[in-house]
Amino acid sequence: MKRSFASDNNAPVHPEIMNAIVNANKDDFVSYGDDPYTHEAQAIFNKQFSTDVEVFFVCTGTGANVSAISHLIKPWQAVMCAATAHINHDECGAPEKYSGSKVLTVKSEDGKLRTSQLEPFLHSLGFEHHAQPGIISITQATELGMVYTPEEIEEIARFAHQHDLLLHVDGARIANAIVSQESSLQEMITHTGVDVISFGGTKNGLLMGEAVVFLNPELAKGFKYVRKQSMQLVSKMRYVGAQFIAHFEKDLWLKNADHANKMARLLAEKIRDIKEVKLTMPVHTNAVFAIIPPEIIAPLQDKYFFYVWNPMVHEVRWMTHYATTEQDINDFVATLRRLLNR
Ligand SMILES: Cc1ncc(COP(=O)(O)O)c(C=O)c1O
Repeated sequence: MKRSFASDNNAPVHPEIMNAIVNANKDDFVSYGDDPYTHEAQAIFNKQFSTDVEVFFVCTGTGANVSAISHLIKPWQAVMCAATAHINHDECGAPEKYSGSKVLTVKSEDGKLRTSQLEPFLHSLGFEHHAQPGIISITQATELGMVYTPEEIEEIARFAHQHDLLLHVDGARIANAIVSQESSLQEMITHTGVDVISFGGTKNGLLMGEAVVFLNPELAKGFKYVRKQSMQLVSKMRYVGAQFIAHFEKDLWLKNADHANKMARLLAEKIRDIKEVKLTMPVHTNAVFAIIPPEIIAPLQDKYFFYVWNPMVHEVRWMTHYATTEQDINDFVATLRRLLNR
């Protein structure tokens, strides 16, 4: 099988998820979410979060972030995030376009935010010439593969609420973060004070489907209209619901993420002793960042698709996913070594 190391988005659909889609593919059901699959999946989210959440299925991670943020923010407010955050760097300005509000960024080597970095923004509060801080958005796991501990999230949530701000989590890779911390959804999200999470599915084996989950149901009021206006209301919602049911069944989501993380750790271990390869980030989830000699990037990409993360320093990102095998890692490392004459 041809394996990509570019992104967990490159993975095939998990067979259990595909089965769930096929099994849901009979009979007529009411569209736009009033179907038994969507209802069951929504009930499962309540169980998983151990509280009554308001959950809305959407098509994409960008759609989840943008619709959640534009629902919760006023155009004169700002969302604060790390400069590396997907909402800032990889959503083509959609958060600004759809919310009409500003994104304020903080430089962060590991993609994590610290309250000390957020404090300077508070000077703007009440000053009409400055966009007013409204939302703090963190990514769990970050775009650099790093993970917040539940305590760190709790600290940011406390800081947010002390200053009348809301805390949004981009959880495109929430499962990878949870297993990496040997934590749980409740410990990491329900009990830390998060207001809303973009809950990822696509990077963890789904064909297509994410969820916007409001932990405070009051905040969800009116969101159904925003979802529609954001073009994220799927007519054949039953297939998203069916995928999420399978995703949670027998902890498939955690097993998939755990495997992806293990494969990344394995890759890092196997290349750690190669002197031409410099790992640039600790491997906490399913991403490995490394600086490699520029002359081997193209030949390696001929064999394996992956992205150059920072061309200025020849830093690349290799990602694993639920379907990456040990054999894939061994073959990849053998190719890398061959190109380096090692
Ligand atoms: C951290 C993070 N958030 C959100 C997204 C958005 O997902 P999508 O491509 O489905 O819009 C991605 C996709 O790579 C991501 O890495």
